[in-house]
Amino acid sequence: MASSLALEATEDVTVGDHRVRAGQRVVVSPLAANCDPSLIGDGSALDVRRRPVPHLTFGFGVHQCLGQQLAGLELRIALPALLRRFPGLRLVVPETDLRFRVNGPVYALRALPITW
Ligand code: HEM
Repeated sequence: MASSLALEATEDVTVGDHRVRAGQRVVVSPLAANCDPSLIGDGSALDVRRRPVPHLTFGFGVHQCLGQQLAGLELRIALPALLRRFPGLRLVVPETDLRFRVNGPVYALRALPITW
């Protein structure tokens, strides 16, 4: 997902304690918002059984992702198909060795060494 979005205020607005004036640019982090401990506790853990919570992965408001239903459908089809095709799919390094790209526009693994 996008680790940051650059937005420009079209009018003066107050967000929490911050006053943003029209024309000012603000970089927001949906990634940080998605990891809000008040929503998901320890967000560092991958927990596929976690109850669904509101999130900003597909943005919010008038520019919310138009493809989110398609993206969800693709994942629901592709992931089971991948596991059916490669039942022995596994990491070749310890999980703790995986490194994430955290400063780019997209939060992602740097590499995912696997075998099957
Ligand atoms: C997991 C996959 C995807 C993620 C995480 C994702 C994420 C996002 C996010 C965060 C935005 C909002 C950006 C903003 O607020 O400026 C966005 C917008 C958009 N996405 Fe996606 N997207 C995904 C897949 C797709 C797919 C499959 C399509 C089309 C086939 C698509 C089409 C669009 C379009 C057209 C917009 C612009 C909407 C607008 O500006 O009104 N996305 N996406």
